[in-house]
Amino acid sequence: MIINPQLEKYILNLHKRHPILKEMEEFGQSINFPFLGPMVGTVLLQYTVIMQAKRILELGSGFGYSGFWFAMGLPDGGDIHCTDYSVKNKEIAEGYFSRANLGHKLHFHVGDALELMDQLDGEFDIILNDMQKTQYPSAFEKMLGRLRRGGLLISDNVLWRGKVVEASEDETVSAIQEFNRLIFESDAVISSILPIRDGIGVCVKR
Ligand SMILES: C[S@@+](CC[C@H](N)C(=O)[O-])C[C@H]1O[C@@H](n2cnc3c(N)ncnc32)[C@H](O)[C@@H]1O
Repeated sequence: MIINPQLEKYILNLHKRHPILKEMEEFGQSINFPFLGPMVGTVLLQYTVIMQAKRILELGSGFGYSGFWFAMGLPDGGDIHCTDYSVKNKEIAEGYFSRANLGHKLHFHVGDALELMDQLDGEFDIILNDMQKTQYPSAFEKMLGRLRRGGLLISDNVLWRGKVVEASEDETVSAIQEFNRLIFESDAVISSILPIRDGIGVCVKR
């Protein structure tokens, strides 16, 4: 946890959420699954609405928690493409989306997220990058290539529980440090890091 735990608890208690999201949170906690939680979820929903996004891609969707937040902000006819290694996660996600009448927006693809991205046509308004962290640096240009101009690349865990400030030989820490260097050095994007939960990297494509 990066921010003061009492402040985090206070903010979390202010958040309203869809009853299905509460169920998803209980499920995620019961199996100790790393989903991004309501503070970040609300930011995803805000960006979806601000951008009037119609086409969103997630790289690393788990059982659909983050995708559910995006789907709530999409218009009818909007699409969220989720990707994950696990067929079981796809089935769980489809169950939750369908119970919330959001199933028509969901396209859940099973396999490696970057390979699946290659199989999808066209550009996206928003890409959520929540894959294995060691993949982040090498995937940066590839993800950028699939965003429309003005589109957002949102990356989770870019502060990695605060470990990014340390010199470290851990490959995950090094990969995230490298990714953060890349997004701030690149002239192709305007980048910021929101220090909520585990840190959210937000890049706007110029
Ligand atoms: C941290 S969880 C996040 C889930 C989701 N974004 C959320 O917050 O609700 C990441 C998920 O992505 C999957 N994953 C990681 N790298 C992947 C890849 N390269 N291709 C497909 N799935 C991947 C993991 O197996 C896991 O289910």
